[in-house]
Amino acid sequence: MQLTLNNDVSMPALGFGVYQIPPDETAAAVSEALQVGYRMIDTAASYENERAVGDAIRESGLTRDEVFLQTKIWITDYGFDKTLHAFDKSAGKLGVGVIDLLLLHQAMPGEFDQTLGAYRALERLLAEGKVRAIGVSNFMVEHLRELRERTDILPAVNQIEMHPFFTQPAVRELNNAWGIRTQAWSPIGGITDYLGTGTTTFEDGTIGAIAAEHRRTPAQIMLAWQLQHGRSAIPKSVTPHRIAENFEVFDIELTSAQVTAIDALDTGQRGGPEPDEVTQEAFGKPIPEA
Ligand SMILES: NC(=O)c1ccc[n+]([C@@H]2O[C@H](COP(=O)([O-])OP(=O)(O)OC[C@H]3O[C@@H](n4cnc5c(N)ncnc54)[C@H](OP(=O)(O)O)[C@@H]3O)[C@@H](O)[C@H]2O)c1
Repeated sequence: MQLTLNNDVSMPALGFGVYQIPPDETAAAVSEALQVGYRMIDTAASYENERAVGDAIRESGLTRDEVFLQTKIWITDYGFDKTLHAFDKSAGKLGVGVIDLLLLHQAMPGEFDQTLGAYRALERLLAEGKVRAIGVSNFMVEHLRELRERTDILPAVNQIEMHPFFTQPAVRELNNAWGIRTQAWSPIGGITDYLGTGTTTFEDGTIGAIAAEHRRTPAQIMLAWQLQHGRSAIPKSVTPHRIAENFEVFDIELTSAQVTAIDALDTGQRGGPEPDEVTQEAFGKPIPEA
């Protein structure tokens, strides 16, 4: 299944995320994902595994244009010149000339001028053909509004925390209104599990009952729900049978009552960092050269 971005670039709806996969395990996981059919990989400079992602893609035998590759600039590299150089670092580690989708990882609201400088560098990279699409991640309504006022090109994608327990209606509605594709991170609610703060999405009764009706797993039902809403999703796993399971979702058709029942599970409680609290001081870390 493909999604068309606001600059007419086509992107697979379902990708493979590699956050928290140690560098020495990343190539095996990405190889497994490519083997079962994923054609989009989501990494980030801050995940420290871009090199292994590039290795796995090269070893897959797939041609460069068969895999949609996206990565993210970390806040330490914000500012026009630093972000231009950050592209060279990421492209160098990935071993590619062109990155399909390049995102700013966080808005960094307290230092928004640096964020704007970084975004203008993405616009430059797009104009130069070094990236095929540009976007943002964890941008909230006010960040998108300021970005739109002060830059030229709307993001193609806003990657945000999005799972049945946290669905960010205001951001998602603004994304939709402005033609920005919402991409779900933690799309099956992994963060409700690895943060260990109560019932997880995998144990939720409503999702479990819908999964039983379809004879599928909760993860598959959550991914079908994301896709039926027109969102892109990037589940992560290092477990081969789950990597495969999470890709076997395109035939699932939830009823509108089932979609509504999952929508109603939103608690409004964020798992990830509060976007307004992301500062260099709290989250900065150097990103090594290629
Ligand atoms: N932009 C951002 O700020 C941001 C933040 C977080 C994540 N992300 C992106 O989003 C991707 C996915 O997010 P995520 O890793 O937080 O959460 P997720 O994909 O929702 O969940 C991953 C977790 O669920 C487990 N899992 C995977 N498939 C499963 C299945 N079928 N049944 C049961 N458990 C399953 C995984 O365990 P095993 O691996 O042990 O199988 C892992 O612990 C990341 O890899 C990253 O690319 C972006």
